[in-house]
Amino acid sequence: MKNANVTVTLTNGTEMPILGYGTWQNTDPKECIDGVEAALKAGYRHIDTAQMYGNEQLVGEGIRNSHVAREEIFLTSKLDNINHGYEKAKQTIEESLERLGVDYLDLFLIHWPVVEGHEEDWKQDNIETWRALEEAYEAGKLKAIGLSNFKVEHLENLLPNCRIKPMVNQIRLHPGVLQEETVAMSRENGMVVEAWSPLSPIPQMKENEAVIKMTDKYNKTIAQLLLRYCIQKQFVPLTKSVHKDRIIENYDIFDFEIDEEDMHYFDQFEMEGDIFM
Ligand SMILES: NC(=O)c1ccc[n+]([C@@H]2O[C@H](COP(=O)([O-])OP(=O)(O)OC[C@H]3O[C@@H](n4cnc5c(N)ncnc54)[C@H](OP(=O)(O)O)[C@@H]3O)[C@@H](O)[C@H]2O)c1
Repeated sequence: MKNANVTVTLTNGTEMPILGYGTWQNTDPKECIDGVEAALKAGYRHIDTAQMYGNEQLVGEGIRNSHVAREEIFLTSKLDNINHGYEKAKQTIEESLERLGVDYLDLFLIHWPVVEGHEEDWKQDNIETWRALEEAYEAGKLKAIGLSNFKVEHLENLLPNCRIKPMVNQIRLHPGVLQEETVAMSRENGMVVEAWSPLSPIPQMKENEAVIKMTDKYNKTIAQLLLRYCIQKQFVPLTKSVHKDRIIENYDIFDFEIDEEDMHYFDQFEMEGDIFM
C-alpha cells in the first residue's frame, strides 16, 4: 500500500496530510479510542475531532494508545456553537487542549458560522470569535486556524475583518454536493478545502450500474472511489469508520487514478433526498 501521508501545504507552511480520519458520532468510548488507535496504526496521520462530538478525551486516549509520536500527527478540533464569542472561545481552546492531553493543536476551526443565540448578530460574532483563534495561533497553541461550513456570505463578512487569514474551510463535499462557489472563494483566499461526509453517496451508489462497473474497472470499492475522487479534486477528505477493516480499506487509495470520464460522471452525479450542510 502506498503512503497516504502526502501533504498539502497551508498558507503558513504547515503540512496537512491529504487524508484524515474523522470521529463524528464516535461517542462509544471503546469504539472511539480503538478507532483512533487503529487509524494511526493503519498509517493515517491526520485526525479530526470537535468539541461538539464530546469525544476529545477519547481521541486523546486513542492517540496515546497508538504510541505514534505527537509531532507526527496532524490533530484538528473545532469550536462548539455554545462557545462562540471572544472570551468563551479563548477559554475553551485551553479546555480542548486539556481534554485531548496535548500542548497544541495543528488546526482549530470555527465549526459553524451561524449559531443559536447569534442568529441576528452572527457577523459581529464571527469577527470577535475569530480574534480569539488569532491570539491562540500567535501564542503557538494552534499551529493553524480555519473555518468550517462557511459559505460565500459568511466568508465575505469575515475575510475583510481578519488580521490572520483562515487557512482551511471544512465543508460537506462529495459527488452530488460540490458547493462550487464556496470552494472557489475559499481557494481564491488561500484556504485548503476539506471534505466532510465524503462517503454519504454510498447507499445510493450501491444501486448504480455505472458505479458498480467502476468498482470492477479499478478493482476498488465504492468508498475507495469516493475518497479518491476527493483527492483528485484536491479536497482533503475526512472519513470515519469504527470498523478496522474499513479503516484500512479507506486508506488504500493511493495506487490508482480515476480517469477523466469517470471523474466527470461523479461531477454530474445527483444525490436524492434532503441534504444537510
Ligand atoms: N465540520 C462539520 O460540520 C462536519 C460534519 C460532519 C462530519 N465532519 C467530519 O468529517 C468526518 C467524516 O464524515 P462522516 O463521519 O460523515 O463519515 P464518512 O467517511 O462520510 O462515512 C459515513 C459512514 O460510512 C460508513 N463507512 C466508512 N467506511 C466505509 C466503507 N469502506 N464502506 C462502507 N461504509 C463505510 C461509516 O460507518 P461505520 O463507522 O459503521 O463503518 C460512516 O458512518 C467526520 O467523522 C468528522 O470528523 C465534519
